[in-house]
Amino acid sequence: MACFFRRCVALQLAEVCGLSEDVFIPLISAVPVSQKQSAADLRVSVNSLRQNGAVAADGDLQSKTQALANQLQMKRGAVVEEVSAGRGVIHFRLNRPILAQKLLEQLCSEPDGFGVKSELLRHLQGGRTLVEFSSPNIAKKFHAGHLRSTIIGNFIANLKKALGNEVIRVNYLGDWGMQFGLLGAGFERSGSQEKLRTQPLEHLFEVYVQVNREAECDESVRSAAAEFFRRLERGEDQALALWRQFREITVDEYKRIYQRLGVHFDHYSGEAFHQHQTQNVLDELMTRGLLKTTEKGTAVVDLSGAGDLSSYATLVRSDGTSLYITRDVAAALDRKQRFGFDEMIYVTDKSQTVHFRQLFHILLAMGHQWAERCVHVAFGLVQGMSTRRGEVVFLEDVLEEARSRMLNNMRQSSTSKELEEPEQTAERVGISALIVQDFRGPLMSDYKFDWDKVLQAHGDTGVFLQYTHARLCSLLRRHARETYSCCDVSPLVDSRSVSVLQHLLRYDEVLLQSANELQPRHLVNFLLTLRYRHVSHTECFKLRVGGG
Ligand code: ARG
Repeated sequence: MACFFRRCVALQLAEVCGLSEDVFIPLISAVPVSQKQSAADLRVSVNSLRQNGAVAADGDLQSKTQALANQLQMKRGAVVEEVSAGRGVIHFRLNRPILAQKLLEQLCSEPDGFGVKSELLRHLQGGRTLVEFSSPNIAKKFHAGHLRSTIIGNFIANLKKALGNEVIRVNYLGDWGMQFGLLGAGFERSGSQEKLRTQPLEHLFEVYVQVNREAECDESVRSAAAEFFRRLERGEDQALALWRQFREITVDEYKRIYQRLGVHFDHYSGEAFHQHQTQNVLDELMTRGLLKTTEKGTAVVDLSGAGDLSSYATLVRSDGTSLYITRDVAAALDRKQRFGFDEMIYVTDKSQTVHFRQLFHILLAMGHQWAERCVHVAFGLVQGMSTRRGEVVFLEDVLEEARSRMLNNMRQSSTSKELEEPEQTAERVGISALIVQDFRGPLMSDYKFDWDKVLQAHGDTGVFLQYTHARLCSLLRRHARETYSCCDVSPLVDSRSVSVLQHLLRYDEVLLQSANELQPRHLVNFLLTLRYRHVSHTECFKLRVGGG
């Protein structure tokens, strides 16, 4: 396994440089297959050795590198076959049959632990991670930003879980605010219980759009909405019962749709729940002397540092009502108390960057040191995600579109004839393609969405990745009864097989990078390269098992 080799090299370095081998483990990295100029598998930069006090900081770097490589070359053993000097780096070439043997041994004996159990990842902070993601707004559009939050949040939650953290997945619904005044008043005018049962999300959206339109030119609608919201805020039974019905029906629908995406949540919370805790937040801020009343009658927290209100966050409007950020402060405090998380990750588009910066600032000002481990993972905007019906309004529209377009593509190729469940396969492949395309670049980048590009059968797409995965699974099924113990690795020494093995050697580093930066692109690009290596050399995977 990757750590086995890293440890062998670290031992050698420890022997020559005289420090504990643990110092060297994080400094040793696999040479990316794409950057191969030499036959080396692992490398270490001499500057990093200098920074860690393993090599004297004075003298010419290149002559140091050469001298160290010579010393290491003399100490090489069975695993490291050759040590050489590059420009400021030492290269280590491993014994190829041992490389194949060890990697395959680990892959076969503990497939789920491959990479994730590497000692390279030992220093990652474990503990309990709360990931808040997706968080759509009831009766409003589920736009591309919510879709991105859903898949990115799910990735982060899965990654953290795989790395051994305890993960709590929270969906924070937009279920409070003036829009519920409008929705309630609108439903009383034109809502239908029948439609609410059969097409809940569509119907709520339809009512909401219509009432907004009416409110624009009709004062009586506006006052009916304001009155409905007052009834909600007063906790009036009938109004609350309707609100509760909207919420429950929405959550049930979302649960069903998230399941199609392979996403689940441990908790559905929302702004409404924390609305009732905002008074406590305001009291606490007041006691700590952090809340200031302005001339306009609003209450704000000074974030300037200089006490001159050059930067501030408003927590109470002039009419005494609370805001989005007030509810977020309450939600964070409540979650800390309830779940005792060690870190909390919020996943939303970058338009909310300032909001989260202010939120963390307020929490810290209140003396909650744990806010230092609250993170906002921001992502860029997607333009042009539409379906044949037009703009994306519902999450299900995207899933339907992915399925029907993929099915269409499959019908045009010959493969679909062999499939037992073409519809389901089309949906899974279509969705993976969408996810892979979304994860390929830095999360902060905006991009233009293009179904044709996303669903291409060739190139760096999720379709091809799934295809390769399916082929590998079929190979595994075919050889399921054969055990690894009698596997002959001797055919795996040609350059193309070795490049697959070398690539696998990098897996733990890629996981570390993805986890440190909370960026899926490292992992996705690793897989795309692996697929490329595999396709260019399928024979590598046709292991000669038991001489067969
Ligand atoms: N519902 C919000 C929106 O659609 C996102 C919520 C993000 N999370 C939070 N704790 N503020 O914009």
